[in-house]
Amino acid sequence: MRLNVGLVGYKFMGKAHSNAYARLGMFFDPGAEICQRAICGRDEKWVAESAKKFGWETYETSWERLVERDDIDIIDITAPSNVHKEIAVAAAKNGKHIFCEKPLALTTDDARVMLEAAEKAGVKHQIGFNYRFAPAVVLAKKLIDEGKLGTIRHVRASYLQDFIIDPDFPLVWRLQRDICGSGALGDLGAHFIDLARYLCGDFKTVMGIQKTFITSRPLVQKMEGLSAQADANAPRGTVDVDDGTVFIAEFENGALGVFEATRFAQGHKNDLSIEVNGDKGSIKFVFERMNELQYFSADDEPGTQGFRLIQATEGIHPYMTAWWPAGHVIGYEHTFVHEIYEFVRAIVNDTPTVPSFYDGVKCCQIIEAVELSAQRRAAVDVNEI
Ligand SMILES: NC(=O)c1ccc[n+]([C@@H]2O[C@H](COP(=O)([O-])OP(=O)(O)OC[C@H]3O[C@@H](n4cnc5c(N)ncnc54)[C@H](O)[C@@H]3O)[C@@H](O)[C@H]2O)c1
Repeated sequence: MRLNVGLVGYKFMGKAHSNAYARLGMFFDPGAEICQRAICGRDEKWVAESAKKFGWETYETSWERLVERDDIDIIDITAPSNVHKEIAVAAAKNGKHIFCEKPLALTTDDARVMLEAAEKAGVKHQIGFNYRFAPAVVLAKKLIDEGKLGTIRHVRASYLQDFIIDPDFPLVWRLQRDICGSGALGDLGAHFIDLARYLCGDFKTVMGIQKTFITSRPLVQKMEGLSAQADANAPRGTVDVDDGTVFIAEFENGALGVFEATRFAQGHKNDLSIEVNGDKGSIKFVFERMNELQYFSADDEPGTQGFRLIQATEGIHPYMTAWWPAGHVIGYEHTFVHEIYEFVRAIVNDTPTVPSFYDGVKCCQIIEAVELSAQRRAAVDVNEI
């Protein structure tokens, strides 16, 4: 079987996904030959250069043309959220399997439209919650599913960055609601919301507080990527998303959660962490040390009990046989190879994709419930959304 991929976007995630398609067949055997058929972006000079650099055979400057091409089987969307729905619905209508970056859409309603379109067309759909695919996270999931943590009582997660602390950092698309839908909560929080759902099940109720610390920023001509430059004296525009969000939650299984997403935590670069406490044990995962899982078992001998540090790099851990010998650590880019591997396998074997657009809808629902609770200053039942 041969699968031809069409990728929308050529910047941060465009590069991460291009690398994943290029590496997949070298390290894994997904049961299909992957062809990097076409990459799409609006700027012809940049997209042509990216096609050459990232290994794509052809390029397009309009996603409308890309989704209609007969020689494409998979549409992979790495553009910002404001165009996810339109592209995904058109891709589904054209019978393409769809991989889409997070958050799935600007609103839960839009995310539901995407899920319905994909289901109606009978195509495979997956969302880019790549942190699920760190071997240490899969190990955490296994320990929880095996009952090693017992009854889950607490979940605490945070995702801390510091890249917009400067008040003159420009008004990039990540700070504009009509493009990104939500600020730190949607960009960063989406990841730990998904990890918490993956490890501990569905959220029931949430209650949040949101803050925009810097309410206006210099306008920029070009807004792609994380490192846009702007003249501090340029006219300023309004920041209409959260700079930081904190929220508490109750899960359907009765567990309690505490969550924090911010881009204002000085010194924290990509500091995603999640800890789960049960009555028999605990796990803790810190992305910047992504090859390790901390695990405490109350079944260990009294006197020598303590958090143990598991190196999840041996071949017995998920995905690791495909890479290097034990202790030869893997990194951020490998999580994208793993997620694309699972997506391709689901297409080849006609099995369900995980995480799918359904998980994308659930995540949007929680994001919206947190936003609503912050407006109301009261707890919100997630199913209200
Ligand atoms: N999984 C992760 O860890 C992760 C990390 C970063 C970003 N993301 C998500 O990936 C998406 C993109 O983020 P990014 O950081 O790569 O952004 P980026 O600004 O680096 O790149 C966006 C790309 O989309 C293209 N684009 C925008 N509108 C388009 C249109 N109408 N038609 C064609 N191309 C268009 C741009 O030209 C650019 O190539 C967002 O949804 C974001 O939330 C996920």
